[in-house]
Amino acid sequence: MQKYILIIGACGQIGTELTLALRSKYGNDHVIASDIREGSESLMASGPFEILDATDYDALEEIVAYYEISEVYLMAAMLSATAEKFPMRAWNLNMNSLFNVLNLGKEKKIDKIFWPSSIAVFGPNTPKTDTPQNTIMEPSTVYGISKQSGERWCEYYFNKFNVDVRSIRYPGLISWKTMPGGGTTDYAVEIYHKALAKSAYTCFLKEDTALPMMFMDDAIRATLQIMESAPEAIKVRSSYNLSAMSFTPAQMAKSIQEQLPDFKMKYEPDFRQAIADSWPSSIDDTNAQQDWGWNAEFDLEKTTNEMLVNLSS
Ligand code: SER
Repeated sequence: MQKYILIIGACGQIGTELTLALRSKYGNDHVIASDIREGSESLMASGPFEILDATDYDALEEIVAYYEISEVYLMAAMLSATAEKFPMRAWNLNMNSLFNVLNLGKEKKIDKIFWPSSIAVFGPNTPKTDTPQNTIMEPSTVYGISKQSGERWCEYYFNKFNVDVRSIRYPGLISWKTMPGGGTTDYAVEIYHKALAKSAYTCFLKEDTALPMMFMDDAIRATLQIMESAPEAIKVRSSYNLSAMSFTPAQMAKSIQEQLPDFKMKYEPDFRQAIADSWPSSIDDTNAQQDWGWNAEFDLEKTTNEMLVNLSS
């Protein structure tokens, strides 16, 4: 019998592509998309969709029972920049949605959970380059605090209640199908749209701010890979470091200028600079490589090619 999967937050930047990838793997009707609002036309047309508020346990439980869901991907969250503006709303959404899904696991109503963490779990006292899996974590943002707490709860539910929850600390994600919303790494997507439309972009981070980044195809592949691995292989039950590339806005601008020589970049750092400054510039993902065979495929040059080709067509 084939399993039924629920994606919460299916209309967001990751959720959209994850839904499409899982649908092509397990069949459209076996993957239920849900969000508080409808998503893109291609997503809505590709299979079943439910309006769902991730903080509403009863509504979630009802959908899980109705579709006989065994696996949940919780992608709904408020990202770093927006969370600084609405701290209590961010805490409520990011934590209560996680508790709802973990408690479904505890009550054995679902078998397996994916929950994304982030490089935002690290803070100003964390070693900045090649940040190890286990290190000082003193996040200084609302979003980072929620992800750090979430990691602790995931590990706790695994140890205490044998809940099979798996997690990745995503770097900044670059994609062309759906725009990101409210993150500090969003510049790395906006830049391509503006480069094609206006040959110019004003970056909200300084030119030399290096951050860990990843192309969406790699992120989706990693997500499917960790979820398909044998439970014994998943030795880290908080969240895995994951890495692909690291670059500054100036380096990204240069990679675009190689294809669009007229492209001009200006810098007007805002409040997001302080968030970026508190995060690592590169990540050591040895554990993910060793435990479940992770290996990234996209570097900056390949990412720029994919972004410009797909956004211009
Ligand atoms: N990309 C996210 C953000 O900038 C980090 O997880 O908020």
